Amino acid sequence: MAADLPAFGFSRKARRTVTQPINYLLQVALGREDVISFAVGLVDQESLPAAEVKDLAEGLLSDEQVGRASLQYGSTEGLSELRRAIAEHAAALDGLKPEQLGIGPHNVVVSSGSQQLLYIITDVLVDPGDIVIAEWPGYFVYTGVLASTGAEVRCVEMDEDGMRIDALAAALEDIRRAGQLHRVKVVYTCDYCQNPTGITLSRARREQMLDVVRAYSTEHRICIIEDAAYRELSVDSPPPPSIKSFDRDNAQVVLAQTFSKPFAPGLRSGYAVLPDDLIGPVLDQKAVHDFGSSNFAQHLLLRAMRTGAYAEHVELLRRRYRAKRDAMLSALAGELGDFEPTATRWTRPGGGLYVWLTLPEWMDTGKDGALFAQALREGVVYLPGEFCYGPDRQRRIPTNHMRLTFGTVCEPAIREGIARLARAIRKTADEAGPPRSAPARQDAER
Ligand SMILES: Cc1ncc(COP(=O)(O)O)c(C=O)c1O
Repeated sequence: MAADLPAFGFSRKARRTVTQPINYLLQVALGREDVISFAVGLVDQESLPAAEVKDLAEGLLSDEQVGRASLQYGSTEGLSELRRAIAEHAAALDGLKPEQLGIGPHNVVVSSGSQQLLYIITDVLVDPGDIVIAEWPGYFVYTGVLASTGAEVRCVEMDEDGMRIDALAAALEDIRRAGQLHRVKVVYTCDYCQNPTGITLSRARREQMLDVVRAYSTEHRICIIEDAAYRELSVDSPPPPSIKSFDRDNAQVVLAQTFSKPFAPGLRSGYAVLPDDLIGPVLDQKAVHDFGSSNFAQHLLLRAMRTGAYAEHVELLRRRYRAKRDAMLSALAGELGDFEPTATRWTRPGGGLYVWLTLPEWMDTGKDGALFAQALREGVVYLPGEFCYGPDRQRRIPTNHMRLTFGTVCEPAIREGIARLARAIRKTADEAGPPRSAPARQDAER
């Protein structure tokens, strides 16, 4: 029947929005049980807090009045007691009280995962053609948000201390000289255990980032979106203070966090701490999206925070992820320590879920390259680094990186998976080898 009809008239936005590459990788991994997947950033399955959530739900529903209230619609901004608890929690992570950050519960908006807030805040600030500055490489689902919004993306290099502030300042200066500063709306950073590199922005750079962005906020205030999704999964020394903590008048930084990584993504709950003048516009958008996230999940999370179940779970996760990260790092050292040592390197994340592996430039890690196919034959899959670079017109996308997720895989499988990956890398190198005209050389990026 549809064959006789013309196509639907899709909106420009629908046409700008691309299918997420991760969908393909999910299928690859789900379709074959023999494949070890380092590709998909799901959380550790074994430690998901099923027993804790059962107790929390029983506690909630055993009080009829509270139970019924939790099954009713909630408010657009979220449960007020939960927002109070979040304001205290977010400030406490910086060793502060909410007042010291210039925030209160009214600055907190609870969302359906932090992804929803990343989307809404961007939608509130960015028109098609506006400029958003992001990391290179960066969180590819946010790159998808930017594509859907129609933003022009300018990317800023990372090094082992996170986004390079000299490069950020240079990008802003270029834009100013071109008379385009009015188009810059957002600087986005995933500043703790970054997705995809695992790198944490150094303490010094946090204050510098705020200073630079403030200095260029002449045409209007440029918003820093601090996506701290992995902050609570930092496992080494205490992580640096948030960028938000330097924004003492709560004027410039949106701090986005989530209950997904430190508790349970199935509850689809995240939140942001917003400057006062963003609250209204964000809530207006959220009201037309869904007029409030799951009220039941919010009641559960409030109980989890009050009973200490949340804090206990985060501790357990930190132990688990530390062991997994260590297993991946030692497997990489054992399996790839002697492979093209001047060009092969990997990050040593202070937590989170990801290690970023760099191979010699002549090795193609792309989805359609020989290594990806060889890795699949060996029974392992990774996220090709090419997916993690935004569409920055001024740059060529490197094709010699990959993101390895240690979140979902148990330690023996991590060791086995890295052994398979190393075999695939060596076989591919034997077959393809370095082209004579382009000898392996130090990667300038890191
Ligand atoms: C960097 C980053 N930000 C935000 C999110 C969104 O997570 P959620 O919507 O589950 O809070 C993710 C999910 O993987 C992420 O990696």
